[in-house]
Amino acid sequence: MYPDIDAAGLKGRDFLSTQDWSIDELNALFSLASRLKADRREGVPTRLLEDKTLYMIFFDSSTRTRNSFETGITQLGGHGIFLSPDRMQISHGENARDTANVLSRYGEAIAIRHCAHGEGNAYLSEVAAHASIPVLSMQCDVYHPCQILADYLTIREKLGDTKGLKLGVAWTSAPNYVRPISVPQSLILMMPRFGIDVTLAYPPEFRLQPEIEEQARANAAAAGATFEVSHRFEDAFEDADVVVPKSWGPLIHTQDHDEGIRLIESYPDWRCDAERMRLGKDHMLYMHPLPADRGREVTDEVIDGPQSVVYDEAENRLHVQKALMALTM
Ligand code: CP
Repeated sequence: MYPDIDAAGLKGRDFLSTQDWSIDELNALFSLASRLKADRREGVPTRLLEDKTLYMIFFDSSTRTRNSFETGITQLGGHGIFLSPDRMQISHGENARDTANVLSRYGEAIAIRHCAHGEGNAYLSEVAAHASIPVLSMQCDVYHPCQILADYLTIREKLGDTKGLKLGVAWTSAPNYVRPISVPQSLILMMPRFGIDVTLAYPPEFRLQPEIEEQARANAAAAGATFEVSHRFEDAFEDADVVVPKSWGPLIHTQDHDEGIRLIESYPDWRCDAERMRLGKDHMLYMHPLPADRGREVTDEVIDGPQSVVYDEAENRLHVQKALMALTM
């Protein structure tokens, strides 16, 4: 029924960053995601993972990621188990090696969200090193690869061929909490590989990891695309086809929480509104991974307006993750 799954050769593969997967592998995933999405809408059964179990370890809170993974494995005929470290022996110090080995004896994949800065990616990598089943990132401190898969599928559905499109990634001021840098980092890494010109705009204190910006530059050069960094908010919007204005913490500049909040509060004008949206092309899409801080990151007029595709984007988390699970598990 789905002959392309085995041909993709991805069974058993980890997914910690899109950077670890080739363009052909990513395209196989997008192709399967679109097919699973269409089949679901037409009522075609998609029980590709019967009797298979996915462990979902959440060190951090979630609405979209938990529910899209858990719904996804259900629709594929398998079972998802929600695990919280405070209810596991991780809370008593059980290490990544023991957790990885034991869960590998029971089920078919381990998905983890661990966003603590300087800890999350190291933990996921250690579990992946010891697990004999795939480890799937549900977001760490460095990457949020499933979000970016959903973003790309959404852009392709709305605008078609992505080569030569301009994507603006703009920092926004949202002082209610300090968000990880993994979403902008994953956006700038993957989008240029598909020929998308990326402009990243942030106040100086909100820079990303230098090695990630360097890799984004190399990815763009290899694909004949561009990657530019600006400290002017409007540069992300001007003449863009897609804009993702979202907040993140000044985590490379400072690890101090109060200093971070003070810095976020010091740029209140970095907010997406109708005036900024008019700087882009007429068809420019407004995207946000959610949750959005309405009123501070973005006005209701924009996020609820005709250019916003945030709910399509959130829905596509389900479809890309079903494809990811079907291919790797
Ligand atoms: N976009 C996203 O990852 O949402 P959650 O934090 O709700 O999972």
